[in-house]
Amino acid sequence: MSKATRKSNTRLRKKHFSNDKLNMLVDTLAAHAEEINQQNLKREVQQRKKEIWEEVARNVSAVCTTLRTVKDCGVKGETLIDMGAGPCTIQLLSAANSFNEIIVADYTERNCRELEKWWKNEPGAFDFTAFAKRVCEMEGNRQTWIEMEENLRRTIKQVLRCDITKCNPLAPIVLTPVDCLLTNFCTENVCTDEKSFCEYLKNMTSVLKPGGHLILTALLECTVNIMGKHRLPSFPLTESFARIALIDTGFAIRYFKVLPSTDDSPEPLTDHTGILFVLARKEL
Ligand SMILES: C[S@@+](CC[C@H](N)C(=O)[O-])C[C@H]1O[C@@H](n2cnc3c(N)ncnc32)[C@H](O)[C@@H]1O
Repeated sequence: MSKATRKSNTRLRKKHFSNDKLNMLVDTLAAHAEEINQQNLKREVQQRKKEIWEEVARNVSAVCTTLRTVKDCGVKGETLIDMGAGPCTIQLLSAANSFNEIIVADYTERNCRELEKWWKNEPGAFDFTAFAKRVCEMEGNRQTWIEMEENLRRTIKQVLRCDITKCNPLAPIVLTPVDCLLTNFCTENVCTDEKSFCEYLKNMTSVLKPGGHLILTALLECTVNIMGKHRLPSFPLTESFARIALIDTGFAIRYFKVLPSTDDSPEPLTDHTGILFVLARKEL
């Protein structure tokens, strides 16, 4: 990383990270999703499609690793909720075999609309079939990708708005406590410091029943996300602080793994040093 980039990242780290900035990121993502769905892709869009594919393919690997871990650890139950799901459902394909009900929640209306379009198989919904095929392969082709997608559509019961900065992130809805909370790359992007990381973790996990499980995936030591022309700051979560925060919030860590970043592209989209995977049980 050049000295100038490091300096600029440090400046970003000092800035407060607002929801507006995250919304911008999400809107950019949703806009790209729309572009990708167009029939006549221009060269620029094709390039962006390739970048997004690579990014999502990385996430698929990350999410599958998490979910395989969950299977190995026997995590299953009645209800799983994904908070900060973005416009994506691929992270839930494997989970649909271990839970009877899935709730997907995100902060922005636009993401929720994308989620609903996919759930209800509406025209113009984002096409995740390539990713579903990849997940299927990683799962050992026990089901076809079509069966996997259909099963997920059946298992999703609600798409809700959420705000993890609120004590009850689903307010005004009060949810019957759930068995599992999945949250990928959300908290470290919304919080601004250690204090707010712990606060938002506590808010989110208030929906879990005692003995329920948290599955959390986060970028480590990331100070910036580059989305097109936007440079969006992120809280540089460390491995040691993540452990402390989980224990202080009342969790017993069952699985804690860091995959070092392998992104050596000349223009990386983030400056994270690794991806953290956590499976933790809410203490009684
Ligand atoms: C980096 S994206 C991650 C999306 C998805 N989980 C994934 O793995 O690709 C962060 C997500 O957090 C959501 N978000 C932003 N502010 C939030 C808030 N206050 N409460 C809950 N989610 C929020 C955004 O809308 C966005 O979908």
